[in-house]
Amino acid sequence: MFIIANWKAYVEDFEKAKKLVATSKKLARSRTGTLIVAPPAPFLGKLAAGNISNVAFAAQDISASTGGAATGEATAAMYAASGATYTIVGHSERRAAGDTNDTVALKITRSLAHNLTPILCVGEHERDREGRYLAFIREEITTAFAALTAKERLRIIIAYEPLWAIGKTAEHAITPNDLAEMVLYIRKILAELLPGKNAMHAAVLYGGSVEPDNIRALAAHSGINGVLIGHASVDAATFTALVQQLS
Ligand code: PGA
Repeated sequence: MFIIANWKAYVEDFEKAKKLVATSKKLARSRTGTLIVAPPAPFLGKLAAGNISNVAFAAQDISASTGGAATGEATAAMYAASGATYTIVGHSERRAAGDTNDTVALKITRSLAHNLTPILCVGEHERDREGRYLAFIREEITTAFAALTAKERLRIIIAYEPLWAIGKTAEHAITPNDLAEMVLYIRKILAELLPGKNAMHAAVLYGGSVEPDNIRALAAHSGINGVLIGHASVDAATFTALVQQLS
């Protein structure tokens, strides 16, 4: 199971950031899955320096550029040099700030070029009765995969994060049944994009109001390979309770 702590911009205090990483390292020692922390960019290098723990670090986003005259941009090369080994791409909060499916595809290419494993976020704004949201998800995934080789495609982790479920509380998250259906649907799309039977083993995660109260039910009945956690990852006690539910 993957557990990804997406701190977003919640953590502005570096002392708090250090404590959260210490908590994560302690938690990682007693479980077998992969625990990944995605701190804000200015903290990442310091937190990941000399890291030999079981915790891995992810960029919350990367630049679509390859460096040069691009004021304010942080590139894949910089993140790799700072100790990140994963990068979140296409998070809905970045898409809201202008990332298109094509930008996301480019960011995946940039990530792979620096050996950063992309965590591709996809998710519909709302569920319409006609089922147009299904085509929306398909488009997000197929555009992201289009330019990649089979070997590159196999490295991508998918995080399904419906926008209507993000940043709320456990009762607003998706139900395990609806999640199970969506995970099957995503694996069906992946079956068209990945060689052989790899779609069955691809990492498909869920994010959107995962909390200690719902994580077990969501993980048990849906076929997901992990979770992406936002607000519940920035409080040490809540995050600990949450991780322990999965251990
Ligand atoms: P949330 O955020 O857990 O606060 O809903 C998840 C995400 O946006 O990655």
